[in-house]
Amino acid sequence: MPTRVTSVEAVEADPPYLFTVVDPRGDEEEVILVPCEDGVEAWVNSCTHEAQRLERGHGASLRDDELVCPKHGSLFDACAGDCDNGPAAGTTLVDIEVAVNRGDVFLTDDGYEFRHAGPADDDDPSSTSHLRL
Ligand code: FES
Repeated sequence: MPTRVTSVEAVEADPPYLFTVVDPRGDEEEVILVPCEDGVEAWVNSCTHEAQRLERGHGASLRDDELVCPKHGSLFDACAGDCDNGPAAGTTLVDIEVAVNRGDVFLTDDGYEFRHAGPADDDDPSSTSHLRL
């Protein structure tokens, strides 16, 4: 059953929009929404190179229509999910199915259940970074 996540307006106002879902095993997973020409795209908030969050809730991961991995700097096309540079070259972000209806974004992916807006609760948003200074 599709669940409303947020409005398209909210995604456009402050992209990427971060929210949390639960996968079939009951584990929380973070998802990011980015505005695109033909609607909104949703990606699992994790780099394809290592388990590194792309977005930490401050909007810093999106630059000029590209998602920037904070760990090694690979750039992903924010709307296609592809990466052609850095350690993640040749990979594509894991996509999550969403749909837009009357200005709202709905989670339509059968594999995931909407939990809440924002980052996962059970974890420090910066904890997957190994760049501890
Ligand atoms: S963890 Fe993202 S490029 Fe290495």
